[in-house]
Amino acid sequence: MSAPAPTTINIGLCGFGTVGQGVWKHLSANRAELESRLGVKLNLARAAVRDLGKARAVKVPASKLTADPLAIANDPAIHVVCELMGGTTLARQVTLAALRRGKIVVSANKALICEYGAEIFATAREHGGHFFFEASVAGGIPIIKALREGLVANRFPRIYGILNGTCNYILTQMEDRDAPYASVLADAKRLGYAEADEALDVDGWDTAHKASVLAWLAHGVWVKTDQMIVEGISRITPADFKNASTLGFGIKLLAVITRDFTKNELCVRVHPTLLPEGNVIANVSGVFNAISVTGDVVGTTLYSGRGAGQDATASAVISDIADAVALIKHGKGAHFIGEGVPAPRQEKRLAPPEHIRSRYYVRLTVKDQPGVLARVASVMAKHHVSIASVIQNPAETPGAASLVLTTHQSNEKAMRTTLKQLGALASVLDEPVLLRIGDFND
Ligand code: NAP
Ligand code: HSE
Repeated sequence: MSAPAPTTINIGLCGFGTVGQGVWKHLSANRAELESRLGVKLNLARAAVRDLGKARAVKVPASKLTADPLAIANDPAIHVVCELMGGTTLARQVTLAALRRGKIVVSANKALICEYGAEIFATAREHGGHFFFEASVAGGIPIIKALREGLVANRFPRIYGILNGTCNYILTQMEDRDAPYASVLADAKRLGYAEADEALDVDGWDTAHKASVLAWLAHGVWVKTDQMIVEGISRITPADFKNASTLGFGIKLLAVITRDFTKNELCVRVHPTLLPEGNVIANVSGVFNAISVTGDVVGTTLYSGRGAGQDATASAVISDIADAVALIKHGKGAHFIGEGVPAPRQEKRLAPPEHIRSRYYVRLTVKDQPGVLARVASVMAKHHVSIASVIQNPAETPGAASLVLTTHQSNEKAMRTTLKQLGALASVLDEPVLLRIGDFND
C-alpha cells in the first residue's frame, strides 16, 4: 500500500525577488481560501536568495532564508520546489536536483526551458519527478493549460501573439506619448517587468524562449533560438509608428509559429510586425500580452492578460502549486502533454527562408537626390520584390530623406539579399530597417 498523501504541503522558493516575493505575498494573503479549495495546509517552508542582508518589501523570518538553493532542492521535507531565480546554470542544477529526488518543480524560467527542456523532461520521467511551467509564458494568462488541456483535440496551423510585456509596454509608451526609449525601459525595470538582463527583452530573446515553449507544446519539437528569425525592437523609432499609422497599421513585437501540414514545415519567428489597426492584438497595450491560437478543430481562440510583473506571474506560479497539490493528493491528473511524453513521431522540418512569405515594410535613410528612388527600385526589381507603396519624409540629417517602401508578398530569402544590396548603395546612408506586415485578421 502506498503512503497516505501528506496533509501539509511544504513549499520551497528558490529565488525571492519580484516573482518569489509575489508568490509568498499572495499565497499568504489567500491561504485560507486556497487551503479550503485544495484540502491541504500550505507551508511556505524556505526561501533562497543570493544576498541574505538585502532589504525586501515582503518580510520573511530570517530562519526561513538560506543562500543555498540546492539545500532546498535536496531537502527531503520539501514537496514542491519553485525555481524563481532565473539564469540557466544554477537554475538548471536546482531543477535537476529536485527532479532526481522525485519532487515537483514549478518554474517561471523560459530561458532554462528553451535551452534544457529536453533534459529536464527526460530527468523528470526517469526519476518520477514533475515539472510545471505555467508562469514561463505570458505571465498570468493560462496559455500552457489552454494548449495542453483545453485544446488537446487540435493541431495548430498558427499561433501568434505578444509574449513580452516589457516590449509591449515600451512600444505602447513610444506610440502614445512619444516617450524616449531609455526612460520607458527604466520604468519597465522599476515596475518589475524586465529581465535582469534587459537585452533578453528588447532584442527579442525572451519572446523567442517563450515561442520555443509554445512550439514544443503545440508541435512536439524543440526549436532553438538559432533556428528562428529573432529581431527586437531597438531600431524602431517614433517615425515608424507615424508611417505605420498612415498605412493603417500598429506595430507589435510578435512571436509567430506556423505549421504547413501539407509540406509538414514548421516556422518559428520573432519580429516587430505591422498589424492592421482593426486586429484585436494590435490594440493590446502596456504590459499586456495576447495570443491568438488557431486549432484545426476549434478555429481561432484569443487569450489576453498581464504578461509580466509580480502579481500576474505569482498567479501563474500559485496555479502550478495547486496542480502540484492535486498531483500529490490524487496521482497523475489531467496533464496529457507537456509532461515529457514525446508527441507521436511525425517528420517535420523547419521551413527554409524561401518558404517564409510576407509583405514587408522597408525604411531607408537616403541622400535626397535625383535617381535615388530609381536605384532602390532597381535593386528590388532584380530580386523580384514588388513595391506596393512609397512614402518620403524629410530625415533629421540635412540633405537626407526617409524613404518607406511597402512590398507585395515576397519571402525571407529574397528580402535578405535585397536588404544587403540596398544597404551597400552609396545613396543609402544608414542600415535599412525591415519590418514584416502581418496580414492577420483574427
Ligand atoms: P529577480 O527579481 O531578479 O529575482 C531573482 C531572485 O533569485 C532574487 O531573490 C535573487 O536573490 C535570487 N538569486 C539569484 N541568483 C541567486 C543565487 N546564485 N543564489 C541564490 N539566490 C539567487 O527576478 P524575477 O523577476 O523575480 O524573475 C525570476 C524568474 O522568473 C526568471 O526566470 C524570470 O525570467 C521569470 N519571470 C519573471 C517575470 C517578471 O515579470 N519579473 C515574469 C515571468 C517570469 P537576491 O534577492 O538576494 O538578489
Ligand atoms: N521580462 C518578461 C516580460 C517577464 O517582460 O515579458 C515575463 O516573462
